[in-house]
Amino acid sequence: MRLRDRIFQAVFARLFVYNILFEDSEVDERFFELESDSSVLCISGAGCGVAGMLSRNPRTIDAVDINPHHLALAALKVEGARGRLPYRTFRALLGEGRVDDPRGCLTQLTAELPPWMQRHWRRHAGRFRHNLYEQGLTSRMVRLLRGQTGIDADWLRSLIGQPIDARRKTIDETIGPALRSPLARAITRSPLQLLALGVNYQQCERLQDEFGTSLAEFFLEHVKRLAETDLATNWFAWYFVTGGFAPEGSEGLPPYLRADRFARSREAETRVRFHRGSLFDRLAVAGPSTWSHYSLLDAPDWLDRDSERRLLQEIRRTGREGAIVLHRSVEDGCLFDRHDEGRHFERLSPESSLASALDRTRQYRHVWLHRLASR
Ligand SMILES: C[S@@+](CC[C@H](N)C(=O)[O-])C[C@H]1O[C@@H](n2cnc3c(N)ncnc32)[C@H](O)[C@@H]1O
Repeated sequence: MRLRDRIFQAVFARLFVYNILFEDSEVDERFFELESDSSVLCISGAGCGVAGMLSRNPRTIDAVDINPHHLALAALKVEGARGRLPYRTFRALLGEGRVDDPRGCLTQLTAELPPWMQRHWRRHAGRFRHNLYEQGLTSRMVRLLRGQTGIDADWLRSLIGQPIDARRKTIDETIGPALRSPLARAITRSPLQLLALGVNYQQCERLQDEFGTSLAEFFLEHVKRLAETDLATNWFAWYFVTGGFAPEGSEGLPPYLRADRFARSREAETRVRFHRGSLFDRLAVAGPSTWSHYSLLDAPDWLDRDSERRLLQEIRRTGREGAIVLHRSVEDGCLFDRHDEGRHFERLSPESSLASALDRTRQYRHVWLHRLASR
């Protein structure tokens, strides 16, 4: 990894950046094929996806992240999904981001978690006093943009009633000027902005290769793509515009928060282990045939070519026959094609195409699914 990406990673790992996962975990539910004898290795991010897996009751989940803020939040979501709190309190805590007695609630929720996580939540219980979803670097950045443009829930409801072309035009007129201003352009070029978006230099280059444009223009185009989806239930759109999830019904919540998933997840016998550190460290200490499923988020986009190859080698070494690997990417190319190692994996092409089309974050060029071929 190049020096500036090493520095990026070291800084990123110390900051509370995300409070939700910006990946469509409903898509993962459909294509990842988890079963009761599955063993998963995943990068946690903010944990909506890890918590969502419980409703499928896999045997084990090893959740890893270099960022302790994200891993600790993922653990709260997992413990909530397990039913350690009544559904109403769980929904208030992680659906609305606030409860009246955060300390009491978190003490109950973290009782079975490692001591460092219990200390973490004693220190940061205040995040749930007002609204978790206004905390973290990404939320602060989005709130700044909301303040500059005046967009809110009513604006989003009015957008829902418009045809797609009109939505794009409305976004151009409402958000475009704020994003195209010299100030916004300067901000989007700053390293702080890259940290808020979780885009390291390697991934930034991949984005520019694809779109040949500034990050501000890319961001505007992203919002327009988001508006092409079913806005009534797209929780990423609600989060972006209102700083919360869709208020009506449950389809506008990340799956792990929905009542039907809660009913299943609370019965799960899944053993979840949380590992603070790099994915590579976890892979290095694992033996052959350890995992049946790998969920890598878009972390491969952060890697240089040597690390990509090492990742594929390690998955091949530690994967069970037929193991499924899921990852997302902002570029058209795929690491499985770039490296000789990739020939040991079979691309699940129809599933990858459909998953890419369905992912409602509209943030990635591809959702890739590969299967480790027989040895
Ligand atoms: C790659 S980032 C990007 C954003 C991601 N799509 C999301 O919605 O969270 C997601 C998470 O991966 C973690 N991460 C990145 N590289 C990692 C690695 N090599 N090992 C463990 N965690 C890693 C980051 O700390 C972050 O929490």
